Formats: sequence, C-alpha cells, structure tokens
Amino acid sequence: MTTTTKDTVKFKVNGIECEVGSEISSQTKLIDYIRKTLNLSGTKYMCREAGCGACIVSASKGPGEPGQAVNSCLVSVTSCQDWEITTIEGLGNRKTGYHVLQETLAENNATQCGHCTPGWIMSMYSLLQRKTLPTMREIEQSFASNVCRCTGYRPIFKALKKFASDSPQNDLPNIKELYGCQQSGVACNKKCSDDWCLLSKDALEKTIVKITLQDNRTWYKVSEIDDVFDILDVEGDDSYILVAGNSARVPYPIQQYPRVLIDATGIEELKNCEIDQNLIIGAGTTLTNLLDVFEEISKEGDFCWQH
Ligand SMILES: Cc1cc2nc3c(=O)[nH]c(=O)nc-3n(C[C@H](O)[C@H](O)[C@H](O)COP(=O)(O)OP(=O)(O)OC[C@H]3O[C@@H](n4cnc5c(N)ncnc54)[C@H](O)[C@@H]3O)c2cc1C
Ligand code: FES
Ligand code: FES
Repeated sequence: MTTTTKDTVKFKVNGIECEVGSEISSQTKLIDYIRKTLNLSGTKYMCREAGCGACIVSASKGPGEPGQAVNSCLVSVTSCQDWEITTIEGLGNRKTGYHVLQETLAENNATQCGHCTPGWIMSMYSLLQRKTLPTMREIEQSFASNVCRCTGYRPIFKALKKFASDSPQNDLPNIKELYGCQQSGVACNKKCSDDWCLLSKDALEKTIVKITLQDNRTWYKVSEIDDVFDILDVEGDDSYILVAGNSARVPYPIQQYPRVLIDATGIEELKNCEIDQNLIIGAGTTLTNLLDVFEEISKEGDFCWQH
C-alpha cells in the first residue's frame, strides 16, 4: 500500500463536491462552512455547543454507511474528509419538492417559528437511515438532543411517531419513498455505493492529510496509531491535541487550539470492540456506533443494557 500526503480535504454536501485547505482556520466548524461558504442557511444554530440540535445535518462517513446525525457546530470542517453530508435543503425544498418528513411536520402543525425544525427533521432522517422502522420509544429517545422553544414537543412527537413500527398511524402514503432502493426497489437503508467515486482510489492507498491552516496551526488526519507517533516525533509533543468528536471543548472551552491538531477519527484500530469477560470499547467508537454495540451485546445474555 502506498502512502500519499494531501493538503486538502474533500467531501460532498448535497451531492456537490467541496474542497477545503489552508484558507480554513482551526476554529472553522462545519456549520460556518455550510452557512457562510455554501450559503445554505436552512441549517440553523443557537447554542453552538451541541445542546439544542438546531444545527444537525446527516453525514454518511464512509462508502455505503448510513447517515448519522451530526451536530455541525461541533465538527471542524477539516474533519469531514470523504463524508457525504445532507442538509435540510438536500432533503427537500421548494424547487424540487419537499421530503415526506418535511411535509408531515408541516401538515401536523409541528412547527411555529421553524428555527428548530430542520434539526428535528435531519435527526429523524438520520435515525431512519440507520433503523428502517424504529419504535415510538426509540424515536423519542433519539431526540434527546433536540430542543424546541415554541411549538412544544407534543405535536412534534405526534407527527414523527407516524414513522414508527408500532404507531397506529404508520400508513403514510409516501412512507416507501423513505426506504426504497432506487435501483432495485427493495427496502434498504444504505446508500448506493456507486455514489462513492471520491473514495474508490483512496481505499487502495494510505492517505495522510496535512494542512497548514490559516491561523498557522497544522491539521493532520491519520489512519493508523503509528502515524500519530510519527507526527509527534517530527512536530514535538509540546503543543498538540487529538481530535475525535471535538465535544470536550464544550465543558472545557478551548480559547486557542494547540499548534498541532491530529484528527484520530480515521484510525480503524481504535474502533474495535471486543469481549473477554468484560466489554472493551475502542477509544474511537462514536456514540451512535456504541448504541449499536450495546444493542447487539444485550441480546447475548450475560450483558444487559438499561436504557
Ligand atoms: C452536550 C454535551 C453534554 C455532555 N455531557 C457530559 C456529561 O454528562 N458527562 C461527561 O462526563 N461529559 C459530558 N460531556 C463531555 C463529553 O463526554 C466529552 O466531550 C466526550 O467524551 C469527548 O469525546 P470526543 O470524542 O468528543 O473527544 P474530543 O473532544 O475530540 O477530545 C477530548 C480529549 O480527548 C483526547 N482524545 C480524543 N481521542 C483520543 C484517543 N483516541 N486517545 C486518547 N486521547 C484522545 C483529545 O486529545 C482531547 O484532549 C458532554 C459534552 C457535550 C457536548
Ligand atoms: S447550535 Fe445548538 S447543537 Fe449545534
Ligand atoms: S418551532 Fe420555534 S423553536 Fe421550535
């Protein structure tokens, strides 16, 4: 396997290829890029610290991976390498027609000022990408990070629970449009892999991203643990941070990032979970994937997961 070094990061937003590099600062979050650079202002924000859900977009982080709800106020835009991001505009809009989730919220009076609405919809859309028919309880639990200040939660849940497997009202005429594979017509919650031309070459070679950011910090994205130590050998370990979900800066605000930022989310070795007599969870496991692990393990008898 060959190793190449890149000084830009590529990803897609609503199917459009985007590329960022040294014009980006260590403080530039995905929400800023979406709203200011792409002028897609449908994605809202309020707290900018993962507490309100207004900024949620859906991101598929690898070939064929279903979308995950992502708080775009947390994620550095340079973390988005190879992501397929869908914003509320990509889901449906006035020109191309609205998505069934958007129609359902509107028809059921589940929005007033509308500031929170894109976040609810993208959160629900992401849940349905991962779980074709969630239960009403699962839907309710998945919304722990979404806040609405004016409509009230009852109409929102009432509308969205129509998509639940145990809902008395899951007979929406358009429900198939949520799940049907466009190629085969068979129920499927994954993306078609031929969307992934961005990735096919990279999958065959090891890529290290190294970007000198606008504010003179250096951003790395690595794929192996050894790469981290190689970087520290060169850069020194006086001023660096590993970046994963980038959420610790909420309880412990970072006024200025260290000189070296190393994105560790691409390190597969850190995403493994194994059981001996304990469940050992890799340090790179996302909360979304961890829930899947708990769900799976809890079927096996000796473990139980208390919701
Ligand atoms: C809305 C919200 C609510 C929260 N509530 C709670 C709470 O109730 N209780 C609580 O304890 N915390 C809470 N937190 C904090 C949260 O638990 C931590 O932010 C989170 O666990 C950090 O994970 P991360 O992937 O985002 O790490 P990051 O923020 O990316 O990194 C955090 C630190 O860990 C280091 N690091 C990252 N990956 C690795 C790795 N693989 N190996 C070694 N070091 C690594 C980084 O260098 C950095 O110093 C909350 C955060 C938010 C945003
Ligand atoms: S702006 Fe509130 S969660 Fe992102
Ligand atoms: S509709 Fe106004 S905050 Fe939810």
